[in-house]
Amino acid sequence: MQPTIKKSLWIVGGTQGIGRHLKESLWEEYQVLSFSRREGQDFAEESVVQSLLSTHGAPFAWIHCPGSFLERNLLETRPDEWEALLRSNLWTFLVAARVLLPAMGEKGEGRILAFGASALKQRSAKLRGPAYFAVKEALFSVVQSLAKEWAPRGVLLNLISPGLIAHEHSVQESQERMKGKVPLGRLGTPRDLVGLVRLLLSPEGGYLVGQELVVDGGLSL
Ligand SMILES: NC(=O)c1ccc[n+]([C@@H]2O[C@H](COP(=O)([O-])OP(=O)(O)OC[C@H]3O[C@@H](n4cnc5c(N)ncnc54)[C@H](OP(=O)(O)O)[C@@H]3O)[C@@H](O)[C@H]2O)c1
Repeated sequence: MQPTIKKSLWIVGGTQGIGRHLKESLWEEYQVLSFSRREGQDFAEESVVQSLLSTHGAPFAWIHCPGSFLERNLLETRPDEWEALLRSNLWTFLVAARVLLPAMGEKGEGRILAFGASALKQRSAKLRGPAYFAVKEALFSVVQSLAKEWAPRGVLLNLISPGLIAHEHSVQESQERMKGKVPLGRLGTPRDLVGLVRLLLSPEGGYLVGQELVVDGGLSL
């Protein structure tokens, strides 16, 4: 019997947190490549992504994890903090999309997953991390626009919006403060996202386009 050839999956931010857990969960099903700044790949730099594309070719799927958080009042958020939020949450995604989408489109199939945050769904004012949520709203808008543009070429983009996902580097003090608001009564773990990611990468997930999928134990209800 012929060995099955695994489809390639890039995880940007596979060194910690949600990305690391996805890498550990999916490596048997996909040929996973993981990138991060500490491994020498800054996705805010287009030349870096270009060089990875030249070396490895276009992936079947790309999961984009960078997305720093900031819990500060809007008017107290300094320009350099806005810049850091935009660079981490939005710019790295756009840079990679500019390079990877055309290459994935040429293959005629592909999946792209970015991360929002569950409170987006409420479309409400934000007192906790308003700058962060403003930037995530922008990311969702970008994901939806690209999803509509690229679906005809077989590349499906979606946004996963996690709630309070605890891991070794998550914002634990803030998560503990919010925990009581979760109807399920517990913080999430990266494992809680794996089933949805599997679905979105699979043929069974092939009719989901440009959606925000919330995984938050009911926090945003
Ligand atoms: N954890 C939660 O509770 C939660 C809740 C809502 C939404 N989210 C969103 O879910 C996503 C993943 O969250 P997380 O908690 O796992 O994040 P995380 O712990 O901050 O991990 C981010 C990963 O991305 C990498 N990264 C950051 N900037 C990069 C860049 N410029 N180029 C390449 N890699 C970069 C980091 O490695 P390096 O630092 O080495 O580059 C790290 O591996 C984020 O977008 C976050 O906003 C998380």
